[in-house]
Amino acid sequence: MKQLINANILENIEVIKNIYKLKVTADIEAQPGQFVQVKLPSDDFTLRRPLGIASINDSQLTMFYRIVGRGTTFLSTLSAGDEVNLLVQLGNGFKIIEGKTLLVGGGLGLAPLMFAASKSKSADILMGGRNADETNYWQSEFKSLTNRIFITTDDGSAGSYGFVTDLLPDILKDNAYDLILTCGPDVMMRKVASIAKEHNIKCQVSLEKRMACGLGSCLSCSVDTIHGRRKVCKDGPIFNAEEIYN
Ligand code: FES
Repeated sequence: MKQLINANILENIEVIKNIYKLKVTADIEAQPGQFVQVKLPSDDFTLRRPLGIASINDSQLTMFYRIVGRGTTFLSTLSAGDEVNLLVQLGNGFKIIEGKTLLVGGGLGLAPLMFAASKSKSADILMGGRNADETNYWQSEFKSLTNRIFITTDDGSAGSYGFVTDLLPDILKDNAYDLILTCGPDVMMRKVASIAKEHNIKCQVSLEKRMACGLGSCLSCSVDTIHGRRKVCKDGPIFNAEEIYN
């Protein structure tokens, strides 16, 4: 059930250039794929920021964000002991299954996949990043959550040179998966969905849209699906791939 809570910051550190890991106290439950809306403790910022959930353990909620403007710059200045207000239990979640799952993500899209990995019985991850600095960090986060880690980098400094969608067909040739969960740039997810379809593997995607209310009442996050217009914040952010990319 949606609720507002005040949360104390436990940690707010830059883990990759311009990417921060934010850990707060929050005694909540959530499904992988759901998100929270963060209200910054300043009257200068009225809109909440949607952040995906990377983990919830022992009443500690972890999220990641990238510095993209004034709000996230301000957020990066907060430190342990500061308080933020959270609107929690928003959106739907990935439908995790018993079978073998391949997670495919890039950039901040890897954050919700961490949570999905922690709830999956058997998951591998295919991650893409700009360079080894990025993938080394995410690798450290996924090491205890997944069986195998496949890596691609834009500059070839770690794993395979290229994009996750370049390597994905080879991985699917050599491994059997029951499900693919993907989160990242739209162009990446579209291609992942298409490759999954070619291999007859079910695929769920996590959409990212600009959100104002986060509650389904402002229409700012509408998206076209095979069932008509849907709201990412309320009907998503997780959709079956064939509902969106067809
Ligand atoms: Fe307002 Fe989705 S953000 S309807």
